[in-house]
Amino acid sequence: MTCPAMTEDAEHVIHVERLTKRYGNLLAVNDISFTVRKGEVFAFLGPNGAGKTTTVEIIETIRAPTSGTVSLLGMDVTKQKRNIVRRIGVLPQGFTSFDRITVRETIHYYSRLFNCRNTDVDGLIELANLTDRSKEQFNNLSGGLKQRLGIAIALVNNPEVVFLDEPTTGLDPRARREVWDVLLGLKKKGKTVFLTTHYMDEAELLADTVAIISKGSIVAMGSPMALIESNADYLVLTLQSVHEIVFGIVQQMGFEPAHANHKNITVRLEHQDDVRTILNALKDAGASFLSLDVRKPNLEEVFLKLTGAALREGLAEEAAQ
Ligand SMILES: Nc1ncnc2c1ncn2[C@@H]1O[C@H](COP(=O)(O)OP(=O)(O)O)[C@@H](O)[C@H]1O
Ligand SMILES: [Mg+2]
Repeated sequence: MTCPAMTEDAEHVIHVERLTKRYGNLLAVNDISFTVRKGEVFAFLGPNGAGKTTTVEIIETIRAPTSGTVSLLGMDVTKQKRNIVRRIGVLPQGFTSFDRITVRETIHYYSRLFNCRNTDVDGLIELANLTDRSKEQFNNLSGGLKQRLGIAIALVNNPEVVFLDEPTTGLDPRARREVWDVLLGLKKKGKTVFLTTHYMDEAELLADTVAIISKGSIVAMGSPMALIESNADYLVLTLQSVHEIVFGIVQQMGFEPAHANHKNITVRLEHQDDVRTILNALKDAGASFLSLDVRKPNLEEVFLKLTGAALREGLAEEAAQ
């Protein structure tokens, strides 16, 4: 087989229609529908156990749906598995590889495994920003480098659609940004990218479309901006380095301030005019603060509002503080 060049020109590359997946009594994916456009980064954003991997692995032909239909590049994922896997790339959750095999050897090996004759190994090493590490053994790579190698492997067959299941989980902030750079490179190349993540900032930064998934259901879907706009029926006022009496004054006015940390407080406001009302009251009371910030809620706060749950443990407490 020769690995395909990019030829698909249909606008939508993935169609999921009323997909449900049960494991015994557990309803892991509950009647979800969505489409993914060619060339977009589509992010499934949700906490552990939401049904992200189940959905992705059904689209990848690995798991079977209980009901519903899924088509990829115009093919039914339950009927044309062989044709589909030739045209997709997969980075599984918790990816790992052969310990003592170098970056370059690994990519060559996967290329042979996929029976690809035209893999641009150097190009992939470069895309994954691994040029300096191409002779390094897998077990000597940091977490971020391993993930970037995993992304390169997912590309050996020059796939049209690339699935990345939690590519940055467990990485430190710098390593995450370096993976993001690689993902942006994929997007530039015109690949359609299906990403799962429980990081709001990742979805907000990378995704053209975000589907928020909670307990097997899609609770909201749209561009990050549209999701924020349609749920942003309040503003967040942050007062930095506040005098200790500020909290009490704001509370007495009928608002519900929260301590963002020991120096700052945040207040949710329904109306823009409330900002002026609060500032005037603080001025009258001679209560000082260093600076202020008024902003719309971010995607994390939208998620909390829609699902009542945090994306990651600890965030609900942080947000409530
Ligand atoms: N093969 C399986 N057999 C039984 N239960 C499963 C299986 N895979 C996942 N689950 C369960 O299905 C739910 C969704 O899991 P998963 O799709 O892995 O979610 P996510 O990727 O969002 O963390 C979880 O409750 C999980 O324990
Ligand atoms: Mg998962």
